Amino acid sequence: MQVKYLVASLALVVTIGCATKQQVTEVPKQQSIQVAGIPLSEGQYLYESKCGSCHELHSPSKFKTEEWKPILLDMQKKAKITDAQREQIFEYLIK
Ligand code: HEC
Repeated sequence: MQVKYLVASLALVVTIGCATKQQVTEVPKQQSIQVAGIPLSEGQYLYESKCGSCHELHSPSKFKTEEWKPILLDMQKKAKITDAQREQIFEYLIK
């Protein structure tokens, strides 16, 4: 009985896991990624993976909302990210 329950819940986890993966490509905005059990927002993930290759990551609090906008537009070309990815990074930076 208990084993059956375990198998059923495992199957459910696998199913949800696959469904989540598919959704990431379709609607990345609402997705969050788990790294070592800590939920990481997509924006933070993008920021850390796309913006730290040329220089150190600047703290989100280092610039104000209106300062981040032109910086991001400038850095978007350097980081070769899409408009949607830039928006997600922006959302993370101004939180
Ligand atoms: C291809 C290399 C490269 C990538 C990728 C890159 N940057 Fe930069 N970044 C630079 C260089 C070079 C400078 C300094 C010269 C300049 O401002 O253009 C800079 C400067 C900055 C500054 C300082 C601006 C200021 O006015 O002091 C910030 C903040 C910044 N980048 C954020 C980002 C963010 C956010 C991303 C990701 C979207 C990113 N960078 C990706 C090369 C890069």
